[in-house]
Amino acid sequence: MCGGRRRRRGGGSDAGAGGRGFCGPALAVVALAAAAVVAFLEGTAGGISYAGDGWLHECAKWDAEGGRFLVSTFFGAGVAEVRVGAGKEEDALAERVFVADPEVSGRVALGLAVDATRRRVLVAYADRPPRFGYAAVGAYELGSGRRLFLVRLDGPGESSFADDVAVDEDGNAYVTDIMGSKIWKVSPDGEPLSIIKNGTFTQRAGTANNLIGLNGIVYHPNGYLLVVHTSGGDLFKVDPRTGGVGVVKVRGSLKRGDGLELLSPTRLAVAGMPSRLVESSDDWETASVTGRYVGPAHRVGSSATVKDGDVYVNHIFGFGLGSKKTHVLAKAVFAPL
Ligand SMILES: *[C@@H]1O[C@H](CO)[C@@H](O)[C@H](O)[C@H]1NC(C)=O
Repeated sequence: MCGGRRRRRGGGSDAGAGGRGFCGPALAVVALAAAAVVAFLEGTAGGISYAGDGWLHECAKWDAEGGRFLVSTFFGAGVAEVRVGAGKEEDALAERVFVADPEVSGRVALGLAVDATRRRVLVAYADRPPRFGYAAVGAYELGSGRRLFLVRLDGPGESSFADDVAVDEDGNAYVTDIMGSKIWKVSPDGEPLSIIKNGTFTQRAGTANNLIGLNGIVYHPNGYLLVVHTSGGDLFKVDPRTGGVGVVKVRGSLKRGDGLELLSPTRLAVAGMPSRLVESSDDWETASVTGRYVGPAHRVGSSATVKDGDVYVNHIFGFGLGSKKTHVLAKAVFAPL
């Protein structure tokens, strides 16, 4: 399928087009086999797919008031919206640019947080890899997309990679740095307030255990942050007032965990490879991995959000031959462990 103008609901394959027209018999067999694998994986996706710009979409969050998913478009350096339930069934779902802030053009847009109370969306920005010399967070009105603030976070000469963002009930934003394993705190008006850095965030020595550090982050209604360390697989409970950091004792593995979403005060979705459901009955002193969801693994799950009680997992990779790629927001059904 080229051009991404077709709407699919959790079936079919768009990668099969890759094997058409330019390969010999042996390659054709390989391409067919690959297409079959992709078709199988896609078939397990459920949820929605849509046409979007570029290969990489890091994060999607449901904006209930707007009736749309907001999606970060990486090289698009901004936020797109994907409206569902509007228009006819046969209409293709396609993203539309919502925020393209000229001040961050040439950077990449990563984690998003919808602050429904203040009717705004926060966006974490990083430098375009392999450069790591820019980190920022922006806030934009949900209605108009108008910028409220854009604040630079990285220090002089510092390498960083701002990846994800969470908002507390007062509107403070918390942005994770996966390179430095720290958290930038920014006021509701966009003033940098503090940096939460703590040796506890590094539980395991060695490069392999720290390639991707602090990543997904959520604010818990009981007044603390939950943050996952992707390479190490550790989950942290962080007190944003004191900078105190505790390690949540998790039964089961959270390695390669990426974006987070609280489904309730006791249930946490951890998107990643695979995506996992984690539950705690003691205010996140301890927790257990209780469910697992693989989905279209070749696309790489990266963030989770809740729409009408269902968990939707965003996937980083879009596929397709045209200028538009097909992206998948898979409805996650966690298999109990
Ligand atoms: C790191 O966290 C520990 C445990 O909560 C705390 O005792 C310590 O003061 C923190 N360190 C810093 C630098 O904030």
